[in-house]
Amino acid sequence: MEQPIGVIDSGVGGLTVVKEMLKRLPNESIVYIGDEKRCPYGPRSSEEVRQYTMEMATALSNMGIKMLVIACNTATAVALDDVRAQFDFPVIGVIRPGARGAVKVSKMRKIAVLGTEGTIKSRAYEQEIERQSPGTTVYPLACPEFVPLVESGQYRSALASEVVERSLRELDGKEFDAAILGCTHYPLLEHPIRKHLPENVQIISSAIETVVDVEKGLRENNLFRDATVQVEPIFYTTGPLEKFEAIICDWLAMKKADVRQICL
Ligand code: DGL
Repeated sequence: MEQPIGVIDSGVGGLTVVKEMLKRLPNESIVYIGDEKRCPYGPRSSEEVRQYTMEMATALSNMGIKMLVIACNTATAVALDDVRAQFDFPVIGVIRPGARGAVKVSKMRKIAVLGTEGTIKSRAYEQEIERQSPGTTVYPLACPEFVPLVESGQYRSALASEVVERSLRELDGKEFDAAILGCTHYPLLEHPIRKHLPENVQIISSAIETVVDVEKGLRENNLFRDATVQVEPIFYTTGPLEKFEAIICDWLAMKKADVRQICL
């Protein structure tokens, strides 16, 4: 089926999922919306996040997508069920796959979850991990400073390392062997996060497992794109284009990207 897959996030975080989609599903066409004007979603109320998520899903529905990936944990935590109820196309979230990735590798059955305030407050990961692996201990940690660092393009800076070190101190003394990057922005900070977590801890980004679900959804609904000519993804933002394109090109190793502005 020729139609594109829609991917949404509050900003550039969903690119971590797009990166994996480009690797595993290179034949698919992708249209992305990052709501950078209203980013971060983490500190916002669930009503606001639900409304913004619905606006992005509606815009992509009007463009004729065949599937939607909510590549944002904060939005998945509060809006997945509503979006599924509203639209006919399959809708994939990131929390179930992220939890699955961690449950798979945690031998101690002790898992840390790093996320935005909204995601941590929702307890969505705790519930999902408990559902998949009852009795597992979860150490949730809100990291409100991470998303602004990524959005401002400072994810490789010395400041990023300092902020990550300070934030992760909260986990000192806790024992766990898996840590979920429960925000799609956080893989851009994986390097400092790796540096400041104990060596035995496996870091789980939900992107890989999410794309497993995307592939499964395409197969089950007979939605694979047949055409063999590859098409470039289109990236919409509600914010300024220049910084958006710089992060896309850096993170996805592209020379140029088709970036466009959108009003929601
Ligand atoms: N990428 C979003 C997430 O996964 C970031 C949320 C935010 O904007 O605070 O939660």
